[in-house]
Amino acid sequence: MNLSIKITNASEAEELSQIQKAAFQPLYEKFHDKGNPFLRGSEDILRRLNKFNRHFTILLDGRIVGGIFYRLYGKRSPVDEIGEHEYYLARIYIHPDYQNKGIARKAILLCEKEFADAKFYYVDFPEVMEKNRKCYQSAGYSDTGERITMEDAPTLAMFKKTVSEPFDPAGVSLPMIYEVEPNELSECLDVIHQSFRTVADQFGLTKENCPKHTSFLPLCFLETQKNWGWNMYALYAGKKIIGYMSLSKESDDSFVLHNLAVLPEYRHNGFGKQLLNHAKDAVKASGGSVIKIGIIEESTVLKNWYIANGFVHTGTKKFDHLPFTSGYLEWKA
Ligand SMILES: CC(C)(COP(=O)(O)OP(=O)(O)OC[C@H]1O[C@@H](n2cnc3c(N)ncnc32)[C@H](O)[C@@H]1OP(=O)(O)O)[C@@H](O)C(=O)NCCC(=O)NCCS
Repeated sequence: MNLSIKITNASEAEELSQIQKAAFQPLYEKFHDKGNPFLRGSEDILRRLNKFNRHFTILLDGRIVGGIFYRLYGKRSPVDEIGEHEYYLARIYIHPDYQNKGIARKAILLCEKEFADAKFYYVDFPEVMEKNRKCYQSAGYSDTGERITMEDAPTLAMFKKTVSEPFDPAGVSLPMIYEVEPNELSECLDVIHQSFRTVADQFGLTKENCPKHTSFLPLCFLETQKNWGWNMYALYAGKKIIGYMSLSKESDDSFVLHNLAVLPEYRHNGFGKQLLNHAKDAVKASGGSVIKIGIIEESTVLKNWYIANGFVHTGTKKFDHLPFTSGYLEWKA
């Protein structure tokens, strides 16, 4: 039996909401609490599909058997905020036909492979539910002693898991792309610097012989680009940014792709291609049909990679202030 997770797609929301109803019905019949997910429909799942949450669909041998979602920002209890490096397991539901098979525990552990910066996980559940307690304990959670009491709802026990193992970047398989907020620019800059460091090393570029190289890009450039209205995108493994790119509009039809980057430890997993495909979709969605890029012409592997991804080489130029040849490529929808 093969258990897997995928990022939930809007088209799965209806099926998931039926499973959610079936899974939460016994709890609703016990507590009659107004906030019970048994009372909610697919809209409840659709509103989790954004940067602030991660909703995963749980599959057993390719068949949908449940869902799980984590809140990344906001509140984890009526009084506590979700802090940096913290994740709140807001809900997990498994179809009653597939319960008591260890699926929830395995799904939780699979999700945790995606959250690169996580140090603490929180979950709460009705204190009296022995089955839930065992499940979370088996996934590494333990009781904080904290209890949440609200009117017309069961008392909730708050459990917490502390991450003790170093994170394995090779485990990330479902990173997501979202637009960058202004307060994330310095994290993006770190990603750009670390990513273009490998290029600087490969071509012997230093602050002395190539001060304008992307590996030395100053923060004010990103701030200015944001102010100019460039579309900036980051690739997120949970809350950690592991990749970056931006698009500027050259004309109604044509856009320029800048600073495409994936952190070295996350490369060769198709994430660069994922960013590139997102750029193509974003350009098409805004009515454009052309993407232009400039590269180090001598970077044959990179040039061939763009060509394999549908770009065409359009020319080269030599600038006196750059110790390499500039190469240009173009993609047309
Ligand atoms: C280009 C880049 C974004 C690709 O990221 P990625 O997540 O590894 O991309 P994918 O997994 O989709 O594709 C991997 C392919 O990229 C190609 N590639 C591009 N540049 C490469 C490089 N310098 N070294 C090795 N492979 C490179 C290879 O064909 C590789 O294929 P492989 O995995 O079979 O070896 C990443 O290498 C990077 O950040 N490089 C430094 C910054 C840079 O040069 N950006 C482009 C500026 S125009």
